[in-house]
Amino acid sequence: MAGLTMTKNAVVTGAAGFIASHLVDLLLDKGFSVIGIDNLRTGSIQNLVEPLKNSNFQLLKEDICNKRFPDLVKEDIDVIFHLAAISSVLLSVENPILVNDTNVVGTVNVLEMARKHDVERFVLSSSAAVYGNPESLPVREETALNPLSPYAASKISAEMYSISYGNLYGMTPIIFRYFNVFGPRQENSEYSGVIPIFINQGLQNNDITIEGDGRQTRSFIFVNDVVEATYLGSQLNDASGQILNLSGTDSIRILDLARLIKNRIPDSTSNIVHRDAREGDVKDSIGSMERTSEVLGFSPTVPFESGLDRTASWYRSHLD
Ligand code: UD1
Repeated sequence: MAGLTMTKNAVVTGAAGFIASHLVDLLLDKGFSVIGIDNLRTGSIQNLVEPLKNSNFQLLKEDICNKRFPDLVKEDIDVIFHLAAISSVLLSVENPILVNDTNVVGTVNVLEMARKHDVERFVLSSSAAVYGNPESLPVREETALNPLSPYAASKISAEMYSISYGNLYGMTPIIFRYFNVFGPRQENSEYSGVIPIFINQGLQNNDITIEGDGRQTRSFIFVNDVVEATYLGSQLNDASGQILNLSGTDSIRILDLARLIKNRIPDSTSNIVHRDAREGDVKDSIGSMERTSEVLGFSPTVPFESGLDRTASWYRSHLD
């Protein structure tokens, strides 16, 4: 493993969002000075209550699609973590233009900011959705890409733009392909991940809604593991130019997830029901973590069920 670099000024896009707000916490703990940028469309200021008390943190309320975005920050920037995105497959099928604007045009704007600041590191949070339904699992990073939704296509484009900026300007990106990330602060709406939806349905005694037969599988990784690995990637010279999966280690059927969550809420009167499968849905998704553990020396540390307990108790204490 190569030596550590001393990057100190970080920009985090999407800072008020689920994953990025945890990354902000971690960077501040490590002594970074952090500029968070967020348009607060889906992100919540509540996620930044602690950082906003810290003099090493400032929040800029700005949209990455804004033409003036590349010139927004006047301070020096060592590293940019680009997490601002629309993360919903469903919304991308309903509104592909909005998703393209945010995830593709927005990424080019953030890359322009990176180029103008001559950043040492550009870290892109991409998605396992880029693989579609691969022939073999767990899927490895060199597997051919196959977008099944506009969301997946937008993430492939964001990756390609990042690589092109690396080739042109030498700011070699680190690309993380996140699998299904879960944990406290994940938004609960029809466009959010399945875990917050199921937990909140269970807590509110509503039907737990499985899309399709529920035999599709996912591999969930707890948010603290994700931000730890993302940070490590930004600090290691060997990670530069790498594309790395961040996946959980177990495959879970959505049907079993529904049962697991219902059992964790013993007083819930929810029923598990089925509705139509989702357009553009991936059937099975789990990533190989071989390259990630080689490059970063990292493996996930939070067992799925304990992550689920931490998440459920967070939602319990945040019910309106
Ligand atoms: C998720 C992330 C995406 C990320 C990708 C990486 C969200 C919203 N999506 O997509 O950003 O890039 O992982 O792999 O966080 N389901 C139900 N009932 C529901 C909701 C969902 O059965 O009420 C099913 C879906 O049909 C799907 C599975 O649960 O089969 C997972 O859905 P979701 O949590 O939305 O995640 P992905 O589409 O895998």
